[in-house]
Amino acid sequence: MGAIKQLNRYLKKYKGTMILGALFLTASNAFLVWIPVLIRQTMDEVERIGAEGFDVPSSIVQTLFTTEASKLLATNSLILIGAVVMYGILLFATRQTLIVTSRRVEFDIRNDIVEKLMKLPQRYFAENSSGETYVRATEDVGKVRDYYGPVIMYSINTITRAGFVLTMMFLVNPTLTLWALIPLPLISIFAYWITGFIHTHSTIIQEQYSSLAGRAKETFSAIRLIKAYNRIDNEQKLFENESEKYRKKKLRLDMIESMFHPALNFLIGISLLIVIWKGGEMVIAGTITVGNIAEFLIYVAYLIWPVAALGYTTNRFQRSLASWNRIEELMNEPIEIKSSDDQIDREIEGHIEFKNIGFKYPDTDEMVLRNVSFEIKPGENIAIVGRTGSGKTSLVQLIPRLFDPVEGEILIDGVNLKNWSLGRLREAIGFVPQETFLFSDTIGENIAFGVDNASDEQIETAAEKAQVKENILDFEKKFKTMLGERGITLSGGQKQRTAIARALIKDPRILIFDDSLSAVDTKTEDAILKHLRQELSGRTTIMISHRISTIKDADKIYYIEEGHIVEEGTHEELLAKDGRYTAMYNKQILEQELAEI
Ligand SMILES: Nc1ncnc2c1ncn2[C@@H]1O[C@H](COP(=O)(O)OP(=O)(O)O)[C@@H](O)[C@H]1O
Ligand SMILES: [Mg+2]
Repeated sequence: MGAIKQLNRYLKKYKGTMILGALFLTASNAFLVWIPVLIRQTMDEVERIGAEGFDVPSSIVQTLFTTEASKLLATNSLILIGAVVMYGILLFATRQTLIVTSRRVEFDIRNDIVEKLMKLPQRYFAENSSGETYVRATEDVGKVRDYYGPVIMYSINTITRAGFVLTMMFLVNPTLTLWALIPLPLISIFAYWITGFIHTHSTIIQEQYSSLAGRAKETFSAIRLIKAYNRIDNEQKLFENESEKYRKKKLRLDMIESMFHPALNFLIGISLLIVIWKGGEMVIAGTITVGNIAEFLIYVAYLIWPVAALGYTTNRFQRSLASWNRIEELMNEPIEIKSSDDQIDREIEGHIEFKNIGFKYPDTDEMVLRNVSFEIKPGENIAIVGRTGSGKTSLVQLIPRLFDPVEGEILIDGVNLKNWSLGRLREAIGFVPQETFLFSDTIGENIAFGVDNASDEQIETAAEKAQVKENILDFEKKFKTMLGERGITLSGGQKQRTAIARALIKDPRILIFDDSLSAVDTKTEDAILKHLRQELSGRTTIMISHRISTIKDADKIYYIEEGHIVEEGTHEELLAKDGRYTAMYNKQILEQELAEI
């Protein structure tokens, strides 16, 4: 039961509150059990008074204020009301302590999960869909919360209430108690079974709902495409199909759920019937009083919920454990890319060296990079060219340690990448990925993403350097323009320049552009490069491109093919070699000339 120990670890912080909650709950049950005792006393007293024929009242007013019976009724009623009120107050206090704690723990666990997820390597996200990850952080946490909330609360409730009630019942009459208890295990088993059944079906329905919601989301994201291709009717049908499946599954569950209460009531009825039948015999025999039967009926009613909760709680508990196991699995995922203990944490100058690097993605066997070696001095601008799929993106991803190489080593300022503090390393790198991702936020916030508390001035300067400021100022809300689903959509080129601004605002020592100008036309590219040049001088820069015009001025150009550097040198040197680079160059010149005709 290591899992329970793990689960209880989260409770340490809230130990005091939990104990207080348990006390409240126990006390509330004590008051609850007192109620039938009061009722029995009242009933028996009234019967006695009635039998002895004392001052029979002539009116209700007289009953209430003058007779001996009235005094008894009045005091007993007041005590009864007091007991009920106390029970209510204590129940409220229980929920405020136990359930509130479970919400706090839920909050703690969720934070732990998110913290962990942020540290996990890319490999994890390649192996697990974002949907699964989302489920871990939402549904599984919710189910684990059940342990801290309902499971613990109902367990304490069942134990204390059953303890009190059974004691009282045995005190009244052990034989009748045993008779009354006969149907109760059935209720427990039934509750266990139905909870499991409902859960299984809820899961199926949840999945169907996700599928329905996913369909809807996709449809509306692609609404322009759907209209343009005249697929409205078709999409409508697909949606209706999904919707119909959902309806059918939901109705089936509703049917089972609606059978639950009648069936439970049937079992309760049997129990009550036994009490009246057997109890009646005992009253006739004179072993117990009529008040005892009333008392007993209430006791049996009190037991129903704890007994049903036993089944329900066991089932919930099993699910909590299953969810916890999944969460624990996530928590135990190795943080592959860990900075080692004696981390180096000083200013990075920007000297980069690749030594015989070999790399493959975790989920494939094929080597994507083979024996790659090169050196970039601080402040140098180098370029990497090669066809699509040759390994350019894979190569630069190794520098901010999105992945680690499987062979060879990478040195920054002469120190192995793994020895650098990860924070320091990533802070020093401005990375413009091949695929631009912009958040559904203002354009200003998107640019400021990588720095804390960026000033408006910083944001504007970065935008200006990336040649996107003029575009932004053309928008009505300028830098406050919303992007994404609820805002405007930028053109491909504008997106790329926004991403460049995002990298520049960090003022990094190392800049990496992964085909970051592919969506701008050659003329805009020239303009951007002219302005960037100044910005780039003094920073170590790696520029990836499939377009030679972008990179011909680089200090050194590496031509990469199938994960291997096959040619290197300056633009002129490479042209003189008359190899692959030259072939690529000639082809592009030709294309450009054709385009200009
Ligand atoms: N996440 C990944 N998992 C497995 N293989 C990948 C992944 N990303 C890229 N590859 C493969 O690695 C090779 C190099 O890809 P990439 O580095 O993106 O090339 P480039 O940037 O030069 O176009 C390709 O064969 C590609 O299919
Ligand atoms: Mg690429």
